[in-house]
Amino acid sequence: MSNKFSRYVCQNCSSVTSQFFGRCMNCKQWNSIIEEKHISKSQDPIIKTHNKSKSFEDIKINEVSRICSGFKEFDRVLGGGFVYGSIVLLGGEPGIGKSTLVLQTAAKISSSKKVLYVTAEESLEQVKIRWVRLNQKNTDLKVFSENNLSNIIQEIKNVKPSLAIIDSIQAINNLDMESTAGSVSQIRSCSSELQKVGKEFNITILIIGHVTKEGSLAGPKTLEHLVDVVLNFEGDHISSHRLLRSIKNRFGATLELGIFEMQENGLQEVINSSSNFTSNENVSGLATTITREGTRCFAVDIQALVNKSFYNNPRRTTTGISLNRLHQILAVIEKHLGFKLAQYDCYIATAGGFDINDTSSDLGIAISIISSHKNINPLANCSFIGELGLSGQVRKTNNLQSRIEESLRLGLKNIMIPKTNYKFKSIYKTINILEVSNINEALSLGFNQ
Ligand code: TYD
Ligand code: MG
Repeated sequence: MSNKFSRYVCQNCSSVTSQFFGRCMNCKQWNSIIEEKHISKSQDPIIKTHNKSKSFEDIKINEVSRICSGFKEFDRVLGGGFVYGSIVLLGGEPGIGKSTLVLQTAAKISSSKKVLYVTAEESLEQVKIRWVRLNQKNTDLKVFSENNLSNIIQEIKNVKPSLAIIDSIQAINNLDMESTAGSVSQIRSCSSELQKVGKEFNITILIIGHVTKEGSLAGPKTLEHLVDVVLNFEGDHISSHRLLRSIKNRFGATLELGIFEMQENGLQEVINSSSNFTSNENVSGLATTITREGTRCFAVDIQALVNKSFYNNPRRTTTGISLNRLHQILAVIEKHLGFKLAQYDCYIATAGGFDINDTSSDLGIAISIISSHKNINPLANCSFIGELGLSGQVRKTNNLQSRIEESLRLGLKNIMIPKTNYKFKSIYKTINILEVSNINEALSLGFNQ
């Protein structure tokens, strides 16, 4: 029986059908379905194994040995370094600095270990130009320009590096398959072949994948279940800050964050990160919050601009927080404080485009909106922490202690927090703690009178 047959794969959501459609039935995307003519053996669901099931007593745990990346920020996000034999996916928008990050990492690691950098997108000369720009020294780093998967695997077997970097997964091609490079099935099959070599020779594989902001061409998204660690490199092209976030990590904490700054000669780690996202200014429309990402707290300025609207539908835009969150906070302010914001445009931006997913920043967002709307300055030298409930209450927040400590480290004099049962006031004597239980109390205490 021939193993060649056609199937139709959506490049957006990777659902498979036996028939061609102009629009994907699953994700409703137009023109995203392409024909694939061959399923490689690696994707064959029937795999004959001679494994036997074991009881926990018979399973031995070897100590996990790691390769340090040379960047403290990178190591923290990885949970202490690259684990030998693991497969790591580094995603991010094109041009954000993925190749720069991995080349700098490769340079640091290769001073003591063998590293193979496979460039499938750029020529050797282009990589050399970046290498010179980054001012790197000669090390045990081998660069290989190739996009044919079997040649890449052969070279990995020849060089036997500790770390092999594939830049990028969208540019490499498994010739056993008829689909084009970058398609979902190519990405999957190339990654699983690379994973096999990694496991066999105990080589760490670092795969780079381009992801668009909308996630529409998100081929690498389909790999997330296959790899051990998924990292996202993010930031906007205007600010020089870059955030390295772990989305999945089998060997460490998830949602851990590392901060870098893109400079003329490469990426620099940002060690004292909080002061990079706060300005310590006391102006209307600006409030500071302490957000927690992974195991760390960051102080971030939130800027609001509330202005009379000249449109039929007032404009609401956000950078760094979700639009839904803004709509919800505006509704709470309207309902519980009686401010008529329906005729006003509202723009919210976090400092440096810092992505805030922590709902405890709600109070800071609300204070910045009220401050801009009323044109009054928020309480000076203060950070605002708390989640806003729909009935206007300021809800309890986790890790309050570490947020207070971060405020102290920044030298803030005041902190507004949800009313708690803990006696924080008696523990922290050097900071004025304002406890509030609802948005009305926040309004009466949170502004310069
Ligand atoms: P790059 O690593 O090529 O991005 P990616 O691999 O994610 O597509 O980085 C591209 C951007 O980084 C480019 O706009 C130039 C900038 N850059 C610097 O600002 N400083 C540097 O030292 C380097 C190497 C790049
Ligand atoms: Mg690149």
